Amino acid sequence: MASIAIIGTGYVGLTTGACFSHLGHDVICADIDPEKVARLQNGDVPIVEKGLDRLVDEGLRSGKLSFVVGAAEASKHAEFHYLCVPTPQSDDGSADLSYLQTAAKEISAVLPENSVVVNKSTVPVGSTRVVARVLGRSDVAVVSNPEFLREGTAVSDFLQPDRIVIGSRDQEASIRVAALYSRIATPIMVTDPVSAETIKYASNAFLASKLSFVNAIATLCEAVGADVNDVVLGMGYDSRIGREFLRPGPGWGGSCFPKDTKALARIAQDAGYDFRFLNEVLQVNEEQFDRTAKKVVDSISDEVSHKHIAVLGLTFKAGTDDLRDSPSIEVLKRVAASGVRIKAYDPAVLAEDNNMATMYPDLEIEVVSDPYIASEGAASLVILTEWDEFTWLDFDKLAEIMEGSSIVDARNLLDPTIPRRRGFDYIGIGR
Ligand code: UDX
Repeated sequence: MASIAIIGTGYVGLTTGACFSHLGHDVICADIDPEKVARLQNGDVPIVEKGLDRLVDEGLRSGKLSFVVGAAEASKHAEFHYLCVPTPQSDDGSADLSYLQTAAKEISAVLPENSVVVNKSTVPVGSTRVVARVLGRSDVAVVSNPEFLREGTAVSDFLQPDRIVIGSRDQEASIRVAALYSRIATPIMVTDPVSAETIKYASNAFLASKLSFVNAIATLCEAVGADVNDVVLGMGYDSRIGREFLRPGPGWGGSCFPKDTKALARIAQDAGYDFRFLNEVLQVNEEQFDRTAKKVVDSISDEVSHKHIAVLGLTFKAGTDDLRDSPSIEVLKRVAASGVRIKAYDPAVLAEDNNMATMYPDLEIEVVSDPYIASEGAASLVILTEWDEFTWLDFDKLAEIMEGSSIVDARNLLDPTIPRRRGFDYIGIGR
């Protein structure tokens, strides 16, 4: 088994470190925040990831997982050094590599001979060369090993991946990194670093394109009177299309798709290719936010226009507590701009935590702790995130307590016959 340093303990770093220790490796995770390191060393996992707290606890107990402050402290005795630091989006759409460069600088002096440095974070095409240049160590190989983790299923995505991609021109380094995954039964492909980095961006951009396509088809279905749920079901039987990622919604978001698609469009532009198709995918997504917001505003009848609306779902998707780049927030920014008052409930967003006010200080929303408190006297009910509990709402009770009689279901979560039977005007997406 190997000794691995993980630099950065966000959802990629912490998941990677915990899973590598579960696979039997000796893992030291480093963060710059001493308080966060202390909490992690006590087994206190700050993110919602199924199974992650159990793996962290297992690693701490076995001694295979530990946490330290500072990258150099983790790297000085390790053979592999995974860079899992943030690569946020700069104002001009390109990826900000400052954290990556800082981390590389910090470990370059302490790296043991013949170490392998691995880019796990999503980094622009060509970053492997950037890291090698910053390290300035001819005895150290730099390898791209992109992550394909989805929030909410990151642990299972790591331990049962569809594939592992390794990008390096150093064959021995590639074999050494591949060996870290020897207990995982999945295809391992080795390519050059630029291709590995491009695989990551191209995969996310393709998935975002598939979603913009299905949202555009939903708009077409509304225009021609088709039911998008049946249309995508019929499409998905074709193995070349596949059933996954065909659910229409208010638009797509999260901490990756928006950042990665804009970064790829910028990478293409800088390389001299005007990636018009990808820019259109981004445009269709913005239009989906607009269209969904219009459905919400139009659902409020004049008699109750002075009332608030009840919004169910703030996170960017169900199963996570992540509010970053959430489609719900994009829609609500537009709804609030038209003067509508909003009371919102989300099972992963605690009213007392005040996360919304911290992240979106300009967005006037009252976060409440129960869907019926939000719905009391509401002009309209809007579902923006596909939390399963919203399927089981008591529509008889909602009909009694609401002022308005509209339900905008921006995730096509509900069977329309159920609210309609209770006199609601049901408005879905593409049906
Ligand atoms: C994504 C990629 O799936 C993952 O491989 C990559 O490593 C990181 O980015 P994630 O951001 O966790 O993962 O979310 P994902 O599950 O892909 O959903 C992204 C957005 O698309 C969410 O807003 C989600 O609600 C939306 N979505 C997803 C749909 O609207 N319809 C779908 O059918 C699937």
